[in-house]
Amino acid sequence: MDGAVRGYLHTPVLTEEVIAHLKCREGGIFVDATVGEGGHTLEILRASRRNKVIGIDWDQEILERARERVAGYADRVTLMHDDFVHLPQVLRALGVEKVDGLLFDLGVSTVHFQEERRGFSLHHDGPLDMRMDTRRRLTAYDIVNHSSLEEIERIVRSNGEERWAKRIAKVVGNERQRKEIKTTGDLAEIVSRSIPSKYHSRRIHPATKTFLALRIAVNEELKNIEGALTVAPLLLKRGGRIGFISFHSLEDRIVKEGFKRMERTCVCPPTLPQCVCGGREKVLQIITKRPLTPRPEELRNNPRARSAKLRVAERV
Ligand SMILES: C[S@@+](CC[C@H](N)C(=O)[O-])C[C@H]1O[C@@H](n2cnc3c(N)ncnc32)[C@H](O)[C@@H]1O
Repeated sequence: MDGAVRGYLHTPVLTEEVIAHLKCREGGIFVDATVGEGGHTLEILRASRRNKVIGIDWDQEILERARERVAGYADRVTLMHDDFVHLPQVLRALGVEKVDGLLFDLGVSTVHFQEERRGFSLHHDGPLDMRMDTRRRLTAYDIVNHSSLEEIERIVRSNGEERWAKRIAKVVGNERQRKEIKTTGDLAEIVSRSIPSKYHSRRIHPATKTFLALRIAVNEELKNIEGALTVAPLLLKRGGRIGFISFHSLEDRIVKEGFKRMERTCVCPPTLPQCVCGGREKVLQIITKRPLTPRPEELRNNPRARSAKLRVAERV
């Protein structure tokens, strides 16, 4: 499907859990840092008439879809086209010092997969792009055709947790010597061929992990989560809450570790017999000891939610 996609495609996940755990019924200023098609934003706006939402997305096309969708709430919602890592600057530009809640629903939107020209999907043949923010320069095409084979192997292994990374990089190297690898279809076929067929899963396409790995690299997704964890908690009012919805283990691990770091008052290595750092101010209190996952009825209606995990912490 190319051009404008009609209707709304992305179903927000863990919505009830977000509303309850970010205390959205109490009224306040919330940031939806990954507004996407506006699904969570709409629910936050509906949760209390006193709620205001600042929605951020770095994908202009998707942001426009959200704008259309939240038009009925124009007096309570402000949409900003930016990278969520720039949250302090975004709030400063709006004259907002601190907020009551922050939501990060990580990764890509269903819209990204549906639009073949964006180059995210294994199942539609499109250009090897994968940029969420089309102002950025690096594309999947650049990595696949111009990065060293060691770098491709590293990306596929570390971002995709793909055991066949070395073989995939080698076959990509042979293929790109013959001709440029231009489309998602070409890459999906090359990766499938690199993995012995007896190791192909019946459930998922053999190139799934490689595509995920490239997407993470193109958009620097893991680095962005680290960046958000560094700046965002300090923008919360006391008692305000921050939530991250992640979809794979690498994302979830970064969130879990980041929350733990900000809960600790002492930063001495655990091997020291006593504290020598003098302690520091505790920034966050973890609210969800274990991540929240979708209930069975949500999974029945939206199978895409199956890997979603929500972690929430409170500013102390
Ligand atoms: C899972 S979707 C969010 C869906 C949204 N919660 C909804 O209900 O429609 C993730 C969105 O985050 C955006 N995004 C990812 N990384 C971003 C970043 N660093 N800065 C701003 N937006 C980002 C993507 O463009 C995408 O639209």
